[in-house]
Amino acid sequence: MNRRSFLKWLAGGLTALWGVGVLYPVYRYLKRPEVAEKIETDIVVASANELSPGQSKRFKFGKKPGLLIRDQDGNYHAYDSTCTHLACIVQHRPDQGDIFCGCHNGRYDLKGNNVGGPPPRPLTKLSVSVNAAGEIVVSRPEGVAS
Ligand code: FES
Repeated sequence: MNRRSFLKWLAGGLTALWGVGVLYPVYRYLKRPEVAEKIETDIVVASANELSPGQSKRFKFGKKPGLLIRDQDGNYHAYDSTCTHLACIVQHRPDQGDIFCGCHNGRYDLKGNNVGGPPPRPLTKLSVSVNAAGEIVVSRPEGVAS
């Protein structure tokens, strides 16, 4: 092997190493995880009688923020608390009797319907049930992403 062919071989080898160094992280990023990510469908968000009528509680449902509200009749309502306008987090205002988004003064009623400001559609509703222990369980309805 003469000097020229050795340098060609070395340059080719170094280029191949550089290519592996660049492409391997991309491959690892794109490769599907071997263990599927666990997607919760039911979570306990409050104990029995934790909320009085008119109170609310924030919770986390997977990656999304949630809002549990107990209305004056004692019924529970749960929503994905991401505003449907530009995805700010909404808050319950018991004194105003609404759900409010402070980013652009968006308003929702306690049933999650958009009633004022720029939000284009109602909040995403989550299913609420009470288990045998009296705990409040929120479930993700079919078709609602985590
Ligand atoms: S993000 Fe909620 S009103 Fe704009």
